Amino acid sequence: MDWAGMLKKNRSYRRFISKDIPNKELIEILEQNRFIASPHNMQELRYFIVKNEADAIFQEVKWAALITEHEGPKFDERPPVYIVIVRDSQSKANAAALWCEVGIASQTILLSAIEKGYGGCCLGAFREDRVRKILGLSEDVVPLLIIALGQPKEDVHIVPAKTGDSLKYYKNEKSAHYVPKLEVEDLILNYREFFQTY
Ligand SMILES: Cc1cc2nc3c(=O)[nH]c(=O)nc-3n(C[C@H](O)[C@H](O)[C@H](O)COP(=O)(O)O)c2cc1C
Repeated sequence: MDWAGMLKKNRSYRRFISKDIPNKELIEILEQNRFIASPHNMQELRYFIVKNEADAIFQEVKWAALITEHEGPKFDERPPVYIVIVRDSQSKANAAALWCEVGIASQTILLSAIEKGYGGCCLGAFREDRVRKILGLSEDVVPLLIIALGQPKEDVHIVPAKTGDSLKYYKNEKSAHYVPKLEVEDLILNYREFFQTY
């Protein structure tokens, strides 16, 4: 798959085939995160791979908050793996800069997963204390973002959108998932000037 194809394929998947991701592949996925950008190259983020406790973690996350009737994946559609991105509570890094690194880290994990035929979903809505307890993390370890991973069992469709349109993702009557995405001319603030000048 080419780069543009991978980016389009990298949607938020919330239903998975009941199939494990082998440990070797998980390490290969996280190996790529050695190479990401990091403020002052401090590399303060750490990753916690969750397999055995996946069902317990499932209870502590919220799926697709914008779809009120969405109850999350059915029992046999749950992700087999979660990766929890954490930081040390004593970290000296500027919080905004560290969050920027979390974004880069999560996208890197998801794209590496896509390359291997998997997919996932960032989960920012979770009960931090409960997650920490389930994983036996000390008070010094702060979970920042959870990434669900597995082999997707659903197609997610992109719908072109303009500024002002609703950007809420939705499902149709057949439960197909649609995600509105702004066009490039809506993303680039000086799109018109740029084309007049160059
Ligand atoms: C930082 C962050 C946190 C998110 N948290 C959640 C979440 O808690 N639950 C969920 O179902 N999706 C979550 N998402 C996924 C978004 O809903 C999703 O990216 C958005 O609907 C666009 O769909 P797409 O990823 O397919 O482009 C999160 C995404 C990001 C970047």
